[in-house]
Amino acid sequence: MEKYILALDQGTTSSRAVIFDKKGTIISTAQKEFTQYFPKPGWVEHDPVEIWSSQAGMAAEATSKKGIYGSDIAAIGITNQRETVVVWDRKSGKPVYNAIVWQDKRTAAYCEELKKQGKSKLIREKTGLVIDSYFSATKVKWILDNVAGAREKAAAGELIMGTIDSWLVWNMTKGELHITDATNASRTLLFNINTLEWDEELLSLFTIPKTMLPTVKQSSEKYGYTNPNFFATKIPIAGIAGDQQAALFGQMCTKPGMVKNTYGTGCFMLMNIGDTPIVSKNNLLTTVAWQINGKTQYAFEGSIFIAGAVVQWLRDSLKIIKRSSDIEALAASVTDTDGVYFVPAFAGLGAPYWDQHAKGSIFGLTRGSTDAHIARAAIEAIAFQTMDVLKAMEADANLSIKEVRVDGGATVNELLMQFQADVLNTVTVRPRVTETTVIGAAYLAGLAVGFWDSLEDIQEIWQTDVRYTPTENRAAIEKNIKGWYRAIDAVQYWSR
Ligand code: G3P
Repeated sequence: MEKYILALDQGTTSSRAVIFDKKGTIISTAQKEFTQYFPKPGWVEHDPVEIWSSQAGMAAEATSKKGIYGSDIAAIGITNQRETVVVWDRKSGKPVYNAIVWQDKRTAAYCEELKKQGKSKLIREKTGLVIDSYFSATKVKWILDNVAGAREKAAAGELIMGTIDSWLVWNMTKGELHITDATNASRTLLFNINTLEWDEELLSLFTIPKTMLPTVKQSSEKYGYTNPNFFATKIPIAGIAGDQQAALFGQMCTKPGMVKNTYGTGCFMLMNIGDTPIVSKNNLLTTVAWQINGKTQYAFEGSIFIAGAVVQWLRDSLKIIKRSSDIEALAASVTDTDGVYFVPAFAGLGAPYWDQHAKGSIFGLTRGSTDAHIARAAIEAIAFQTMDVLKAMEADANLSIKEVRVDGGATVNELLMQFQADVLNTVTVRPRVTETTVIGAAYLAGLAVGFWDSLEDIQEIWQTDVRYTPTENRAAIEKNIKGWYRAIDAVQYWSR
């Protein structure tokens, strides 16, 4: 009898493998960072072969270090950095170019052109997305236009493409399965989230042949089996979701109005909006949350590009802290920012502003300002940006959110969590298992093979660790929030 689910989390900076038992307890974990390539300013690439080998290596390490065999594993679930895309040869399996990463901005000028051509409405209505270099389609077009012979080969049906989930499954099955799931498809700019099919008009707009695309599957279903070369035995691959959608599922935000926020390099806030793909009026994305048992759930998403990265910047560039974890003590050494505001728009501003040209700025400095005030302002900025996204969600959904579930590295920062609850004026809840992304992928796979029988079964695993409730002193908080908006206005004025 198989006792475990193996979940693979192929992220932007590392490949992880985590093994869970039926109670959702982590039995084993392995993680490896891989190389980031920055060939030109604004360009970010990964080596697809290193992605696959690091991911396969971590699966082997997580199992072997606890004496777990392939025959102990009921199913594999996959979750992945989204939008990052690979184009490879159907026969040889060799990528024709590096993976172009979601952060890569090489197609920003082309995106501006598309906006000028008036394509925004069409794209928003069909895909739920905005025109931005963040998404996959313009990256694939770039590869076809710039890699010698690629366009001809693609037209002849010799090249195929996929987001990282497709690339992993293709390798795990030795080229037998070329698939993706609806959550990953919904991040490409090629997938119509209303019809749940690849969209002919968008394919022709981006000049991408349909033969390149993977088959779109549900997020939880038995897709096929691993090739025995991968593990000694065949294991069902049964769950796929983009990492933010997997986290929404891992947080058990299964009802409309439920919200999660993940604090990583950036922040990704998603709200379950039920079974209708509502178009946002406040610059949020509409995306597929998951597809299970033939039913599709949708989510609003607000992406914040810089969150944990601002702490890294204070550590590596400004050098005011040695380790990222030092920020809390430094920020707590003062009672407030003394009027300092920090807008960390190092990569422009994401939702709800979508200003590609915004630059990071610090406001309100005096002779009395210290590193502690700047550190505190940086922490507050993470919370303020989250607040901006939640306000947009509340306006779009026409409801007031009562609770936000949080996960990710920065959720150990008590100062941030309390300030977050204060500015959101909403209870902020950290669950006991904060590995929500990878457990979400495990749940999706486990549900498909009957490892867990139902949603109710896994809902019991989700438990609260800490609840942060908003402070009563609203006047001071509201005053602070007004200052943030002045800072945001100034940043946008400067970028014009
Ligand atoms: O949309 C990008 C996101 O999926 C990346 O997540 O956790 O790999 O940085 P992460």
